[in-house]
Amino acid sequence: MNQFNQIIRDKPASAEDLQLNPRAKGQKIQQWLDRELRRLILQGQIRGGEKLPSTRKLAQLWSIARGTVITVYEQLVAEGYLESRQGSGFYVVTGLTEDIDYVLGENSTRESQPERPDRNEINYKESPFPVQGDFTPKAFSPFQPDCDLFPRVLWGRIMSSLCRQADASIFRFGEAAGYRPLREAISQYLARSRGVKCSAEQVIITSGTQQSLQMISQILLREGDNVIVEDPLYRGARTIFSQAEFTLNPVPVDKDGLTIEKLHKIKTPKLIFTTPTNQCPLGVVLSLERRFQLLDYAQKNQAYIFEDDYDGEFRYTGQPLPALQGLDKNNRVIYAGTFNKTMYASLRLGYLVLPPELFNAALHYRATMDRFPPGLEQAAMSTFLQEGHYNRHLRRMRKVYAGRLKALQEAVASYLPELQIGTRATGLETLAWLPQGSDDRKVCEKLAEQGIRVQALKNFCLQQKLPPALVMGFAAITEKQIRQGIKTIARCL
Ligand SMILES: Cc1ncc(COP(=O)(O)O)c(C=O)c1O
Repeated sequence: MNQFNQIIRDKPASAEDLQLNPRAKGQKIQQWLDRELRRLILQGQIRGGEKLPSTRKLAQLWSIARGTVITVYEQLVAEGYLESRQGSGFYVVTGLTEDIDYVLGENSTRESQPERPDRNEINYKESPFPVQGDFTPKAFSPFQPDCDLFPRVLWGRIMSSLCRQADASIFRFGEAAGYRPLREAISQYLARSRGVKCSAEQVIITSGTQQSLQMISQILLREGDNVIVEDPLYRGARTIFSQAEFTLNPVPVDKDGLTIEKLHKIKTPKLIFTTPTNQCPLGVVLSLERRFQLLDYAQKNQAYIFEDDYDGEFRYTGQPLPALQGLDKNNRVIYAGTFNKTMYASLRLGYLVLPPELFNAALHYRATMDRFPPGLEQAAMSTFLQEGHYNRHLRRMRKVYAGRLKALQEAVASYLPELQIGTRATGLETLAWLPQGSDDRKVCEKLAEQGIRVQALKNFCLQQKLPPALVMGFAAITEKQIRQGIKTIARCL
C-alpha cells in the first residue's frame, strides 16, 4: 500500500487540496489537467469514492475555461476513472487497484522502485540489423529488394478476395507447420525451380531465414558444440551462433566456395552453415566437386548442413543454379528459403525443408516460439504461387535487377575506375574492391556522411584477411540513383 492510500479523507476534495503540478512550457491546458488528474487518481491522492471539486470551482481556481474542465472530466468518466452522479458531481470510481501507481513510470511516487535485474543478468547482445530508424533504401543499401515494384494491386486483390470468403478458417488458429496448400505449393515450386527434392510433409513455414536458423540452432546445438561457418560470414548467422555460445569454426571461402580440405581438421562438427549458391557476401558459387565433398564430409561426421538459399532465384546469366539439397542422398541438408527478398521485405514468410527425422523437433519448437504463421498472408502467398504470379514476378524482377547491375558496372567504369566490381551476376548486391591499402570501414564511415550506405567486407570476416572491399546493393534503387551514387562516391574517395 502506498503512502497516499493511507491518507483518510472524510470530506470532498476541494480545488485547493488538489496538488496539481504546474503546467509545462508549451503544454496544452487540457492535456495538462487530464494528466494531472489521472496522476492524482492513480497515485491514490484522490481515493475511490471521493468527490472531485465542481467544474466551476476548479476552473475559477486555475483560471481556465470551465468547458475544458468538463471535457477532461467527461473523458475520465469514459475511461472509467470517474463516475458522474446525477445532480451531485464527479466521483473517483471505487475498486481501482491500490497498486496501480506502478504504471506511472517516471512520475511514480513509490518510495522504493522494484529492483532492476543486474545488467549482467540480462542476456543482451547487439543485433546486426538496424532495430529502428529510416529504412528507405539508399544508394547502395545491400540485401534489399525493390519493394516499390512489388505488384501491390494484384496482391491486394488476392488478399481482399480471401477476406471476402465466407469460410473464416484462415483467420482461426492454424497448423504450426503452416498453411497446408502453401506447403504443397512451395514443395512443387522448389522441385521445379530450385532442384530441391522434398514433399510438403517436410516443409515448415517460418517468418524467414533468420527465424529458420534460430530454430535449427535451438533444436540441434548445445553450448560448446562445433559449428562450421563460412569466412566471411553472413552477419545474421554470426549473431545467432555467438549469442548461444556455440563454438564457431570459421573456414575460408575462395573462388570455388568453402574450402573443403580445411574442414577435415575440425572434429565432431554438428552443423555447417553455408550459402552455396551465392556466398554471402563474396558472391562465389560452391563448385560441383566441392558440393559432393561437403555432402560426403557431413555424412561421415553425421553433421547437418544448413543451406541458406537466400536469393538463389536472382541469377542474371543463364538459369538459377540448383540447390545443394537436391544432391543429398542421406538427409544431411536442412534447406532454408525466404519470400522476404523475392516478394517484399516486410512479408516475413520463409520456409524450411527438413530431413524427416528433424521435422517434429522443429515443429514443436516453432509452436513454442510463436505458435503458427499468419493465415491471411500464407493463403495469399499460396494463391500467388499457384496462379503463376510468383514466377512472372521473379522473371520481371530478374530483368530489372540485371539492368541495375549493368548500370552499376557502367557507372563505375565511367566515373570510378579505381573501384573493381566483381564479376558476380547473382543476388541483390555485389562487391566493389577498393584500391590496395584502403580501410574499407573508414571508407564506409566517410561515405555515410554523404548519405551513401555501403558495408565493409571486413565486417563479415572472422579470421580471413581479405583485400578491402565494399558490399554494395544495386537492386532497391533506380538506375538514376545508381549513377548519382557512384558520382558521389567518386567525389569522396
Ligand atoms: C545471407 C542471408 N541469409 C538470410 C537472410 C535473412 O533472410 P530473412 O529476411 O528471410 O530472415 C539474409 C537477409 O539479408 C541474408 O542476406
